[in-house]
Amino acid sequence: MPALWRGLSARGGGWVKVLTVVGARPQFVKAAPVSRALRVAHDEILVHTGQHYDDAMSAAFFRDLEIPEPDVNLEVGSGSHGAMTGEMLRRLEPVMLEHQPDGVLVYGDTNSTLAAAVVTCKLAYPDGRRPWLAHVEAGLRSFNPRMPEERNRIVADHLSDLLLAPTQTAMMHLAHEGLAARAELVGDVMVDAHAWAIERAADHLPAVAREHDQYVLLTMHRAENVDDPARFGPILDGLAIDLPVIFPIHPRTRAVLERGSRGLPSNVIPVAPVGYLEMVALEARAHAIATDSGGVQKEAYLSGVPCVTLRSETEWVETVEVGWNRIVDADPSALAAALADEAFMNRDKPRPPLYGHGNAAPGIVAALERHHDRAGMARIRREETVL
Ligand code: UD1
Ligand code: UDP
Repeated sequence: MPALWRGLSARGGGWVKVLTVVGARPQFVKAAPVSRALRVAHDEILVHTGQHYDDAMSAAFFRDLEIPEPDVNLEVGSGSHGAMTGEMLRRLEPVMLEHQPDGVLVYGDTNSTLAAAVVTCKLAYPDGRRPWLAHVEAGLRSFNPRMPEERNRIVADHLSDLLLAPTQTAMMHLAHEGLAARAELVGDVMVDAHAWAIERAADHLPAVAREHDQYVLLTMHRAENVDDPARFGPILDGLAIDLPVIFPIHPRTRAVLERGSRGLPSNVIPVAPVGYLEMVALEARAHAIATDSGGVQKEAYLSGVPCVTLRSETEWVETVEVGWNRIVDADPSALAAALADEAFMNRDKPRPPLYGHGNAAPGIVAALERHHDRAGMARIRREETVL
């Protein structure tokens, strides 16, 4: 690291000062390995928007993944998309102005991602410096405009200075949108997180799983599934199978079940959302996984467990192409057919490292360092031109 650039950081200590914004469950998982790698040589300010706030949706992940306490919690809480995002914008700006990071790091596609990207891209410090914006999990596309996450990720990608893509497919999407020059293929940080957790998960298998030799693990929380009775009902019908189905219930889904007329099939065992180590242990022992989660599809693949995806498309197309994931949408007969299909359920098939080798986090830190150098160089050139 050239000593010259050290001076470009706003304070002493670490070489680069990064402000990380997280807010929802999957972002804690993704940020954990990066935060660990980042803090070896750099300063990180960790900001939690408070989008997720129940102990089981937030603090449990900080404990399980050994993430340092957030420096700031904006305590935004739940609300409509506009109200939540607006409140985040309002509360994030003064925090960024106070800390004046060299750059801001955002993850995935939630409202917390969107808000942090929008605030960062318009920020200027009193001395004229502007922070750069880096997006982890850039380039994912479902091509489903009804998903709020699709809107969020497209905006975040187009506002970012550095696009950290998990797959070649994501790189291709970025290239199609004219963003190739800002993109780097780094692999998927969820592989890093999963590898770290699987070594620690053995003692964390929840009691409910120890009571059943075989079970299907279910997660379902997407608004387009649980808030739409025309999809939620048929999906639940399809889960009335001969095996127990262990279902850690997301609060959005719990709220729908509590106020709705629709109950769960008798073989479905509802449990509270579980911590990350419990989840990784549950996944590893499952007969199959049924999910509408993005992260859980990949974790099923990493665990070598067949996955049925309760959506009409997926961003993680590679898992489908290699025969470990099947898109069953909200169709009960497709779900039953997948679980009964011996070829699909057979685990004796290749599982290439689609998402990298578990070293995405150091790759991301190296990419941030290179970007910081380039940004510093650009600033010096600008200042020399002005002089
Ligand atoms: C959000 C993300 C989604 C991500 C998911 C991960 C957006 C638009 N969506 O969806 O991409 O897959 O997180 O889980 O950002 N609630 C609680 N306690 C909590 C958190 C939420 O009770 O700690 C309830 C509230 O009633 C809230 C509802 O869950 O209204 C939905 O939460 P919200 O953060 O709006 O969206 P998610 O469905 O969690
Ligand atoms: N997860 C968990 N406990 C649960 C459900 C999910 O630890 O009860 C983890 C899961 O292993 C994955 C992440 O949460 O790492 C995925 O989050 P979610 O499905 O909420 O969001 P998505 O990935 O769909 O954005």
